[in-house]
This record gives sequence, structure tokens and C-alpha cells, in this order.
Amino acid sequence: MATLLLLPGDGIGPEVTAQARRVAERLSATAGLDVTLAEARFGGAAIDADGVPLTQATLAAARAADAVLMGAVGGPQWAGQPYDKRPEAGLLALRAGMGVFANLRPARTFAALAAASTLKPEVVAGLDILFVRELTGGVYFGEPRGISGEGDARRGVNTHLYTAAEIRRVARVAFDLARGRSRRVASADKANVMEAGLLWREEVQALRDAEYPDVALTHILADNCAMQLVRAPTQFDIILTDNLFGDILSDQAAMLTGSLGMLPSAALGAGGPGLYEPIHGSAPDIAGRGVANPCAAILSLAMALRYSLRRPDLAVRVEGAVEAALDAGARTRDLGGTLTTAAMGEAVLAGL
Ligand code: IPM
Ligand code: MG
Repeated sequence: MATLLLLPGDGIGPEVTAQARRVAERLSATAGLDVTLAEARFGGAAIDADGVPLTQATLAAARAADAVLMGAVGGPQWAGQPYDKRPEAGLLALRAGMGVFANLRPARTFAALAAASTLKPEVVAGLDILFVRELTGGVYFGEPRGISGEGDARRGVNTHLYTAAEIRRVARVAFDLARGRSRRVASADKANVMEAGLLWREEVQALRDAEYPDVALTHILADNCAMQLVRAPTQFDIILTDNLFGDILSDQAAMLTGSLGMLPSAALGAGGPGLYEPIHGSAPDIAGRGVANPCAAILSLAMALRYSLRRPDLAVRVEGAVEAALDAGARTRDLGGTLTTAAMGEAVLAGL
């Protein structure tokens, strides 16, 4: 039996993961999903209860699980804390501790939501981009880092650093995935101003030439990529990029689809459990009101079924149920509707 560890976290995290849990429970009861559900405190909730955002016990449970489904972390009540005492630090420690270096962030439009995008429907119709974001390196983790000095000499330092091995292992994930799609990868960097970006470009190209001659690789500067994403987003299939650019560009691409509330993600390492998260944040402004869209959390569960729980058939079913709910007109507030979080979960269950 597989174990799925739920880390509801903060803000709307508990509300949306509760709906993903209902879907998992339904699949266990009716579709032969052989999974035990466990739950642990994480993020701000863990800071309040345990003093740290990620306890050793929770990290151990995550590493021992087959898949981890995280809700969201963070909120204004913890924002004034030093970095290591913030909910976000727990998420970075979880990603690093689980060794999940490849973050898959699909951005695709649902036909029923084409009009929900701020871009013209004809610009986003058929959008199906898969970001492969490096997740455990770069400026998020590089040393040295910190704030030091006094007065005008106060310095804030972060280090953007990549090794060839870190670049190659995430590029390999992108190329392997490309073989199951259209065999096209665009790699985004700032090789024109950053040495680490130049190394990124050289290593990605070298791996492609040596092992993936069947995959078409293009390099694009990250700023141009941002511009192309709003100009003509359907030109992209897989976009491979580093931790920081991936953070920014994937939010941008997510919004092309109409709502951040629809998009799931998977973080994978070399074997071991995957970490699944909706890419929306904790949304403190609507937390606790039962109006958040649970679809991203439910679709993250679908990714867990596909990549960690070895039930791609059920992943397809869950994705189909979300699509059916949308086609039937089910809409939470972010999508211009009035359904509550629970009612949206209900609509998805009805389509299962
Ligand atoms: C994301 C989030 C995180 C990140 C934050 C919460 C640390 O924005 O998953 O995109 O920057 O990676
Ligand atoms: Mg982000």
C-alpha cells in the first residue's frame, strides 16, 4: 500500500487539500486506489505549534511517503520573521530535503475557460506549455547569502550558482518529457549577462547534442521569453529554466490560462517520492472563507497519481472529472462564478 502525505499548510491550503483528500478517498473506495492518507503540520501552522516550519519528523515522514501533497504556505502573520523562521523556508527545506530538483508546471487552457484569460481567446486557444523549472539550486540556495554591515554599507547578498551536474540532471528531465510530447524544448536563461546562464546554455546544448539529437532545442533569453509568453504563447511546448526565472515565468504563464487556481505542479527527484503542489499561494485575502478554487490541488493529486502512485489511469480520470465540471458550468469566484470550495469539490466528484 502506498502512502500519500498531506501537508495542508496555511491560508487556503487546508481548504483546497481537503477537497483533494475527498477525491483520493473516493478513488480508494470505488476505483481500487491502494493508498493510506497521512497528514502533518507544515509552514506557518508548524511555526505556531512547533517553532519551526518543517520539523525533522515531518521531513522524515515526507521522505518515507510515496507522494506528498502540499497545500500552500505563508501569510502576513509570519512575514516579519527572520528568513529561517518563515513558512517559505520550510518549503525550500522540504524541496531540498526531498531532493526534488525538477519542477513540472503545466500551463494549459481548458476549453471552457478560454474567455477567462486576460488575453484574447484566439491568442491562448490550445495553449499547452510545460515548464521544467530547476527547483533545488540557483539563487534560492546559493551561498554566501545574508545581510551584513551598517548604514550605507549594509549589504544584501545572494549567490546565483549552478554546477554542470545540476544543470544536466534537470535538462535530462525536460528532454525525456519532450520525447512524449512534440520534441521541442526552449531553454530560457540570461547567458548575455550571467556566467551561470552561459554555463546553463552550454551544458543544456551539450547534453542535447550528445544524447537527444531527436529533440529540437532553442535558447531564449528569459526577458524575451516573458515577452513572447504574452505575444504568442502557443509557440512554446516545454520551457526549461532555472529556479528564479521558472518561478516568475510560470506565474506569468499560469495567468494566461485564466486563473492561478487551476494549475498544479509536480516536483520530482531521482527516484523517491514526488512533491505535489498547486502553484497558487496561500491567498490570505480569501483564506478561511471557503471560496478558494480547489482544482489546482485536485489536479496536483492527479499528477501524484501519474508520477508517484503508478495510477496514470486514475490521473486521466481525475483530469477528466475537472474538465467535465468546468464544461458543466461549475465555477468558483476566481473563474467568475459563485461556487464554494466544497461545492466545486462536489462538482468534480460528480464527474469522477
Ligand atoms: C512557488 C512559490 C515559492 C517559490 C515560494 C512560496 C517560496 O512562489 O512555488 O512558485 O518561490 O518557489
Ligand atoms: Mg512562485
